[in-house]
Amino acid sequence: MSSLTESDAWLALAEHYHEIKDIHMRELFESDADRFDNYSLELNDILYDYSKNRINEQTVKLLLQLANDVDLSAWIEKLFNGEAINHTEHRAVLHTALREQGNKPIIINGEDILPEIKAERQRVKKLAEKIRTRQWRGVTNQAITDVVNIGIGGSHLGPMMVTEALWPHSLHDLNVHFVSNVDENHINDTLENLNPETTLFIIASKTFTTQDTMVNAETARQWYINKLGNDNGIERHFTAVTSNVKLARQFGVAGDNIFKMWDWVGGRYSLWSAIGLSIVIAIGSEQFDELLDGAYEADQHFRSTPLEKNIPVMMALLGVWYNNFFNAQSMAILPYDQHLHRFPAYLQQADMESNGKYVDRQGQEVDYTTGPVIFGEIGIAGQHAFFQLLHQGTKLVPSDILAPVYNFRCIARHHRALMSNVFAQTEALMRGKTEQEAYAELKSEGLDDEQIKQRLPYKVFPGNRPTSSLLFDTLDPKTLGSIIALYEHKIFVQGIIWNINSFDQWGVELGKQLATNILNELNDTEPVCSHDSSTNGLINYYKRRRASDKK
Ligand code: F6P
Repeated sequence: MSSLTESDAWLALAEHYHEIKDIHMRELFESDADRFDNYSLELNDILYDYSKNRINEQTVKLLLQLANDVDLSAWIEKLFNGEAINHTEHRAVLHTALREQGNKPIIINGEDILPEIKAERQRVKKLAEKIRTRQWRGVTNQAITDVVNIGIGGSHLGPMMVTEALWPHSLHDLNVHFVSNVDENHINDTLENLNPETTLFIIASKTFTTQDTMVNAETARQWYINKLGNDNGIERHFTAVTSNVKLARQFGVAGDNIFKMWDWVGGRYSLWSAIGLSIVIAIGSEQFDELLDGAYEADQHFRSTPLEKNIPVMMALLGVWYNNFFNAQSMAILPYDQHLHRFPAYLQQADMESNGKYVDRQGQEVDYTTGPVIFGEIGIAGQHAFFQLLHQGTKLVPSDILAPVYNFRCIARHHRALMSNVFAQTEALMRGKTEQEAYAELKSEGLDDEQIKQRLPYKVFPGNRPTSSLLFDTLDPKTLGSIIALYEHKIFVQGIIWNINSFDQWGVELGKQLATNILNELNDTEPVCSHDSSTNGLINYYKRRRASDKK
């Protein structure tokens, strides 16, 4: 048994689960008229309502005890102070330094990193503003009309999600595209209508070795050369963001166009760094500062608010409650703001690459479950797709609902229709529909007793399905910055409780290694026999098909 599952708080929670598991949230609301007030928190214009969860005072008390038992407050300080908490890579984890507004030095290897962060940010802004104001000229002295970010994982999802989310705040005559897939369709479809003379590429890769990104970057360079007939002026069309400056230079990116990131920024936490160059180009320097401000305010909230009033801490503890005691395997992220349509995909990497681990910080296999499967979709679309399972399926899927009080143009007819769904869904998932209620409804529809008997079982909703709601005024850069940072910190807290390192990602290595070996095997037509029969069969089938097609 691990010390976590043997801790007093854990054992007490396990016992408490048996007391609460059959209590319906309807009862919890009936017995506490102030439940909403008692179980909701605010940060600026963000309201976090967690009252529709299967918790009572005792649950919260025990979950907070669990947080205290693992010394969460001390870990929060370690995070902000730059201790090497990514112990498997001997690295600090300092995405918070990227949005730091204070001047107190943050020392890594004897040096204050803040001046370098600020200097690099200035370089990014300078380039972005030149592009936005059409001062940056391409090979034929034309302004840039299209920016293509080539990157994958953290070098793609964060910038892409934010750029989509803040589209109303962006320059609309400057198009920002994102290419991540090594499938040629992605880059070819993107480049089809672009003009190399007015296109700027950002090769975004922390390592500058990721195969998918490198293959796409090479294709982009070749496209430029083929279209223009030579590589004249190519330095005005290629930029890079990386911690591997040497490889970026070898690729041919001019030194002035290479922006630095540091090993203490994890890819999935890097949108605040120069990896956010595409964001700055889209929304401009001032609004990027607001994004950073919003994140900074969430950082301050996380660092200085008592645990019981701390939004990311409560988000994390609820996740642990369902994951480890209710045995919930997944969690749904359901934004009702169309501009957040890539938020679930972004959070999938942020959460699952961080907390999808089975070995603890001491190198032992854990005896409890860790990170949940994160999935999600725009809420309205989900309602007409997978919400059936949320309402009447056999699995418990705790869900986060995110919605704006105002949206961009805020046409009342649209917005009220949208929000009526938000409120209806959280209520329906909580209350469900009892047999008596379903019976009365069918009766009022004029069905006879025989018809009612047949239909009744299908019309009952058990309810008691947890949702937490995040309502925010409007999706502006500052609010978005806060929301993202709240989720980043939630993930951190869960990693601390589960005693895992949320900041490495060894699990993605195996596939990369095997792909490199198999890539060599695909270079000829010889059948392979070094794998299992399925992998051999698939590879050989592919080779035969390709050989006969002569492609
Ligand atoms: O394959 C996973 C991963 O290592 C992510 O953690 C990272 O965000 C992504 O690849 C891209 O890496 P890079 O920025 O080095 O190209």
